Amino acid sequence: MSRMIGRSALFERLDFAVAKVEQLRANRVLDIGCGSGPLFGPLAARGVHVTGIEPAPGMISLAEDSAAACNGLVEIVRGGWEDLRSWDPNDRFDVAVALGIFDYVPNPEELLATMATVAEHTIASFPRPGLRTSLRRLRYGARGVSVYGYSRARVEMLAGLTGMEMTQLAPLGRAGYILLGRNRLGTLRGDDPVQGPVEQA
Ligand SMILES: C[S@@+](CC[C@H](N)C(=O)[O-])C[C@H]1O[C@@H](n2cnc3c(N)ncnc32)[C@H](O)[C@@H]1O
Repeated sequence: MSRMIGRSALFERLDFAVAKVEQLRANRVLDIGCGSGPLFGPLAARGVHVTGIEPAPGMISLAEDSAAACNGLVEIVRGGWEDLRSWDPNDRFDVAVALGIFDYVPNPEELLATMATVAEHTIASFPRPGLRTSLRRLRYGARGVSVYGYSRARVEMLAGLTGMEMTQLAPLGRAGYILLGRNRLGTLRGDDPVQGPVEQA
């Protein structure tokens, strides 16, 4: 995957997430689709507690290896973001992070809204439409996986639908964008996915 979206964008989005978690003085982070756990070490080194949620058994095994070196600060839960709405609504995180997840989500407004139900802040990466994303679409499409691209306007529209206060929408080179937003409590109900027109990028 790094070949297709550029290694620098992968590092940039991880660096962005770590820097913002630090700036926000967050103590509890939810890492949605944590994969092998590249965020675990840098966050745990700053004393941050991380809960990773991940559905793929192979990734969970790698994530467990990463977590083992984190002094008990990292917990891994098997599952997908769709399960988050059944989590205890009083058990909130300071930041929910989704890096490399919106790329594959057909209902991004629901994921963004779900993140708002579990955390005070959201950090999320979005690939841009364009040649890179089209090539990934072809490559992943052969395996039955859809890949979605987002214009800046579409990310802004999605953030607006959740009632989020958008703090930053930074470019990730030419690969896409990374969003930092403050979620507004009370604008969303846990059982009520956001409805609205979703323009295709
Ligand atoms: C491109 S990887 C990104 C991993 C990690 N966040 C990173 O930045 O390196 C996407 C991850 O999302 C996971 N995933 C797939 N479907 C998911 C779902 N419904 N909920 C949460 N994670 C999911 C995949 O198993 C994979 O580990």
